[in-house]
Amino acid sequence: MSKGIKIATIGGGSSYTPELIEGFIKRQNELPVREIWLVDVPAGKEKLEIVGNLAKRMVEKAGADIEIHLTMDREEALKGADFVTTQLRVGQLDARVKDERIPNSHGVVGQETNGPGGMFKGFRTIPVILDICKDMERLCPKAWLINFANPAGMVTEAVLRYSNIKKVVGLCNGPIGIEKNIADILGVDHSEIYVEFVGLNHMVFAKTVYKDGEDVTAEVVTKMTEGESGSTLKNINATGWDATFLRTLNMIPIDYLRYYWQTRTQLEDQQAAYEKHGTRAEVVKRVEAELFELYKDVDLAEKPKQLEQRGGAYYSEAACNLINSIYNDKRDIQIVNTRNNGAILDIDPDSAIETNCVITRQGPIPLASGHLPVAINGIIQQIKTVERLTAEAAVTGDYDKALLALTVNPLVPSDTDARVLLDELLEAHKEHLPLFFKNK
Ligand code: G6P
Repeated sequence: MSKGIKIATIGGGSSYTPELIEGFIKRQNELPVREIWLVDVPAGKEKLEIVGNLAKRMVEKAGADIEIHLTMDREEALKGADFVTTQLRVGQLDARVKDERIPNSHGVVGQETNGPGGMFKGFRTIPVILDICKDMERLCPKAWLINFANPAGMVTEAVLRYSNIKKVVGLCNGPIGIEKNIADILGVDHSEIYVEFVGLNHMVFAKTVYKDGEDVTAEVVTKMTEGESGSTLKNINATGWDATFLRTLNMIPIDYLRYYWQTRTQLEDQQAAYEKHGTRAEVVKRVEAELFELYKDVDLAEKPKQLEQRGGAYYSEAACNLINSIYNDKRDIQIVNTRNNGAILDIDPDSAIETNCVITRQGPIPLASGHLPVAINGIIQQIKTVERLTAEAAVTGDYDKALLALTVNPLVPSDTDARVLLDELLEAHKEHLPLFFKNK
């Protein structure tokens, strides 16, 4: 990597790209990124050009020695890359509308990473990411794959199990958001606390919070029950947890747990929100339209504030800190998705987990946390099962395996609902599920 770093960003036309560019610009002094290749598919060409031109203006304004390349040729972008970041959305936001709306129309939670919608996003995304892995083996075998594409947990699981790429890290902004929220609750800077996370992507818990070397988890939890804080994520409606429940649990669940432990309220919220302004994807579509209008402005040369309306806040902080620490062998601690390798005793060593890791040039080393607390062991095991079965169905395109995966998902009420949802979602997403339709 001595010549300077080459980054290939797949799904480069995403509205989040200015976040990433800002992150690299900020770290110029220690992270010598020289080339960023933003790649997209023909359907995303217009967005790629708009956001890519903004990226060029940002780099120019900052006087950074970074070349921005825009391309639809993935091979060219991958050739010799040091880091490949993936932030793609197969089928774009229209597919997300279906993932949210179809389950909702059957009285089931409709969400882009949880429940049947999340699994379908997995079915669409996993084969594409595995294809990228194959290209990486040929074109940049030494590169790190930093995956942001959702469902990031399932995708990391699939890469670990079904590809030859070993240098993979799954990334989410969720844990950083929780940490910042805890710091706010305690009225201290983020750097003054240490939070131990255990679990899976979008199924993670802040298990213990330390301040000045002391365990202050109970204080944080009590303050949360006293209404000190709502949701940490823009995309989830937080209604507060039952105070006794949260105090007894004595951990801070990521807001995605609301779909499991507040299912009825979340479903009612989704149904009401749909009547008012459409599904979350439809809201995001409007935010995106507004963002891309702003991005077109030739006088704009920085990340606009409006991007904060999206759920992916701190995305660049997570991605750029990780790349920086791998490149500079910083050996600091970050929360990422990586191979468990025995860190959580109740989870298969070969599975992906989301936890505190020491970030080295060799990759993340997960810190041991022993057995999972009994109250959360069950749900984590169940979701890991769903992730593994979804990954298997995604790579095989096997209907029966998909049915099994849907039926054991705790958000699907019954086997008959599973079949109805599977059939309707398969039909709706046909064009992006070639493996499921290969023999039909
Ligand atoms: C959260 C999650 C991300 C997800 C985002 C969706 O931040 O951690 O994984 O992509 O929400 O936000 P959106 O604005 O697209 O609803």
